[in-house]
Amino acid sequence: PAVAAGDPSARLTFTTLPAGDGSEPDVRVPSNYAVTVLLRWGDPLTPTAPAFDVDNQTGASQAQQFGFNADLVLWYPLPSYVRRSVDMTGELNSLVDRVIGFQYPRLKQRGSGGALMVVNHEYTSADDMFPGYVDGSPTLDQVETEIEAHGFSIVELTHGGGAPSFDITSPFNRRVTGSTPHAITGPLRGHPMLQTSTDPAGETVLGCLNNCAGGKTPWGTILTCEENFDQYFANFAGAPGDIAAFSQRIPAPSGASRRHWEDYVPRFDLSSEPKEYNRFGYIVEIDPYDPNDVPKKRTAMGRFKHEGAACRLTPSNRVAVYSGDDARFEYVYKFVTSGSYNKYNRTANKRLLDSGTLYVARFDAGAVDGDDMGSGVWLPLVWQAGNALDQAGYASQEEVLLDTRGAADVLGATPMDRPEDIEVAAGTGKVYIALTNNSRRDGDPGETRIVNGREVSSAPDEANPRNNTYDDGDPTNNTGNQHGHIIELIEDGDDAGALTFTWNILVKCGDPSVVAHDTSFGDLADPVAAGVSPISDPDNLVHDDTGNLWIATDGQYYSGNVGFGQNDGVFAVPVEGADRGLLRQFLSGVPGGEVCGPEFSGDNRTFFCAIQHPNDGNAFNAVWPIGDPDGVSKPSLIAVYELTGAKIGT
Ligand code: FEO
Ligand code: CA
Ligand code: CA
Ligand code: CA
Repeated sequence: PAVAAGDPSARLTFTTLPAGDGSEPDVRVPSNYAVTVLLRWGDPLTPTAPAFDVDNQTGASQAQQFGFNADLVLWYPLPSYVRRSVDMTGELNSLVDRVIGFQYPRLKQRGSGGALMVVNHEYTSADDMFPGYVDGSPTLDQVETEIEAHGFSIVELTHGGGAPSFDITSPFNRRVTGSTPHAITGPLRGHPMLQTSTDPAGETVLGCLNNCAGGKTPWGTILTCEENFDQYFANFAGAPGDIAAFSQRIPAPSGASRRHWEDYVPRFDLSSEPKEYNRFGYIVEIDPYDPNDVPKKRTAMGRFKHEGAACRLTPSNRVAVYSGDDARFEYVYKFVTSGSYNKYNRTANKRLLDSGTLYVARFDAGAVDGDDMGSGVWLPLVWQAGNALDQAGYASQEEVLLDTRGAADVLGATPMDRPEDIEVAAGTGKVYIALTNNSRRDGDPGETRIVNGREVSSAPDEANPRNNTYDDGDPTNNTGNQHGHIIELIEDGDDAGALTFTWNILVKCGDPSVVAHDTSFGDLADPVAAGVSPISDPDNLVHDDTGNLWIATDGQYYSGNVGFGQNDGVFAVPVEGADRGLLRQFLSGVPGGEVCGPEFSGDNRTFFCAIQHPNDGNAFNAVWPIGDPDGVSKPSLIAVYELTGAKIGT
């Protein structure tokens, strides 16, 4: 359709990248774009940090280098006065902190000069990190290196169109790792269930683990989310019953963990330090502008496999934070603060996320069944004497937060097809939820299965309607939701604090030319004729500055029978206007690697993403970045820019 001037999709004039066949060895973008690798696993982040040496890796070295498996990517403007001030004193003084607070809403539009970049390091793959790694028998150096390869990096970039560059001299460059002290804040701070032998006060935990998608607050801090933290702990079967009871819905390995950290670090052994497990699974907040800021685990937002943390202000300036729980048949949550955001008091804003109400979503069919739209309710996860949570056996709000999944079960939340990233479109306030796939959504009506410690329907429902999208063409052979879908959620009254909402399915992913995939793309009558690209497994999301949705994928190639033999990539889709649903491919990644991040500079003239686990399982043979001097595949942060400096999407 013709796109009117001013239509948000008018800027998406780039030439669609042809879908590949999974064999392309390097990142591909349209011909008027260039790609540069900004930071690779092992790159020193300070002038005194040791150079990467694949044969001599230690925790002490890795703690000063870019970590492994980059995921979340966030861009923050860095005014020169902030850099100068921190350069002189080594700290963020309170006056500069206040100025950042009230300038941030405007500053985030800027594009040139300095910027801070936050990059998560989600997890480690030892056999792709250490030559000759012996599965099940790591060395102490390998374990310490892996722990330090987790967490996230904060780095300074210089750019203003064209290729950005990393500033190794910046006082902001730092690592937060799997051993960095984090403060526990909010309702669970000091709670007996979080007290351990090395932290009897229950106030400080070492490290954040498995940080996946996240988000930015309106006051310019980072929200990074602990996702699959269960895999790092061993001997769940040996944990005392009263402690394990709070984690029946997030069970850790009953015996040894895959990485065997517990062989050297006792806190990962739940038979000797069981409550350590209760100190992971939170949203972590940190201030990128304060090089000394202690990261904080915000327990008021619940404990689950958090993925994504998208903020929007309510009409009374309270802060809503949307977050998903990425596992099969898990839930979508919203937290609404008790206090209100005040742009003139950044110090107070940095305490807002410790007090508020956590809700979980129920997606209802609405007036018509099967029309891919409906209504919904935010159910408060609030304990009160005599209410359903009390009757279910929870003794306090703290116990509800500790076992958030179990409490959400009690309220009748809707099990979803793996909620990955979640984003709010700034212009409209609409919320976008990537539901990446669910191979277990393969039941017929009435069928159930046991997943994560509870019985759940495996049949499709209104909001998770796909169970036969694998292209075997047999409608009687339920194969689950193989390609995923994206839901658009609209709060009633355009109020992020609302208790009810409506929703619709924006995209049912797959190859639109394959009838068995049963795809849909907005209201497009003929997606193939319109030029829609095939897409599978939507994961990370971001909006550009005109509101178009950009989607990175995880699993297009190789995840069992999920995907369809293409490298993961980045896709852009208008969500408003005449071209709503016209999803087209912009970037293609490399074999074995998911594409993460996506992020824009404030002026939208630079695009950033991470290539996570390139050549997964084959990292010492097929090397990416191509020509890497160490001959090792390295998860990396890349930047993409248009050759004439035009906005991304041109
Ligand atoms: Fe770490 Fe759900 O992706
Ligand atoms: Ca409906
Ligand atoms: Ca993800
Ligand atoms: Ca995102």
